[in-house]
Amino acid sequence: MVIGAGTMGAGIAQIFAQSEATSCVYLTDVTAELAENGKRLIGESLGRSVAKERLTQQQADAAIAKIVPGLKEIGADADWVIEAVKEDMRVKKELFSDLDSIVRKDAVFATNTSSLSITELSAGLKHPLLGMHFFNPAPVMKLVELVAGVLTPQAVLERAAQLVYSLGKEPVSVKDSPGFVVNRLLIPMINEAVFLLSEGTASAEEIDTAMKLGANHPMGPLALCDLIGLDVVMAIMHTLQNETGDDKYRPAPLLRKMVRAGKLGRKSGEGFFFYQ
Ligand SMILES: NC(=O)c1ccc[n+]([C@@H]2O[C@H](COP(=O)([O-])OP(=O)(O)OC[C@H]3O[C@@H](n4cnc5c(N)ncnc54)[C@H](O)[C@@H]3O)[C@@H](O)[C@H]2O)c1
Repeated sequence: MVIGAGTMGAGIAQIFAQSEATSCVYLTDVTAELAENGKRLIGESLGRSVAKERLTQQQADAAIAKIVPGLKEIGADADWVIEAVKEDMRVKKELFSDLDSIVRKDAVFATNTSSLSITELSAGLKHPLLGMHFFNPAPVMKLVELVAGVLTPQAVLERAAQLVYSLGKEPVSVKDSPGFVVNRLLIPMINEAVFLLSEGTASAEEIDTAMKLGANHPMGPLALCDLIGLDVVMAIMHTLQNETGDDKYRPAPLLRKMVRAGKLGRKSGEGFFFYQ
């Protein structure tokens, strides 16, 4: 069962639906309409893969047929529960507490959190929990960070690594720490690009071109911020700042302003660049 049918939840559900080892993927959200919408997004994504001849129509049809949208109560018999809701400790803790009494006892809980403490999320739960951090776009990106909290059993981490390999992805093992490995390095770099923009050091296009051609990054930091979502980037900076108590992780004021204005990047149609 995947909880949260947004950017990441839909992508993760698609990966599982395309795996031969999976018979069914429950895709859930706060309303049945949002879950249905997630299934529609997956249909579009699979359609693009068929158009590019990366997938046959038959494979796409088989994958979409495995996706069952609805509310979390439909997933009582799920083996794995992967949470991809809002990056908010209170929301995630409340959700896992509800799931603890809904889902079968031997199921494993995983969170796709980008930065929150795995140990704090797992405290007080009957089910074991680990971080299973996919990257965006989930069906394309090879890496999954497997994050061990203080309470995560070693056997669960080993099962999770096998699961990740079976999905055609590569796991790296990480101990619970704010931002884990990738976001601890990547998100402050993006935040620094927003400072450069607001200081007038260079335009958004020039900053991105500089990092693509000068550092060989496939995508500039501001286009990447638009892809991740400005709200998600800001939430991760807040976590890094609060957890470490170090103000070097303060979110750039321009990032805060844009989030308040609803300029969240690709998902809202506008961030540092415009999208149709
Ligand atoms: N966007 C990225 O690039 C990225 C990459 C890796 C990890 N993440 C993490 O994945 C998670 C989801 O991020 P996203 O970008 O997909 O967000 P999103 O805003 O696109 O989607 C979140 C979805 O969760 C749903 N939701 C919110 N509260 C819920 C609840 N209580 N129960 C069920 N559904 C609920 C929302 O309706 C929405 O559909 C976050 O923890 C984020 O930090 C994001």
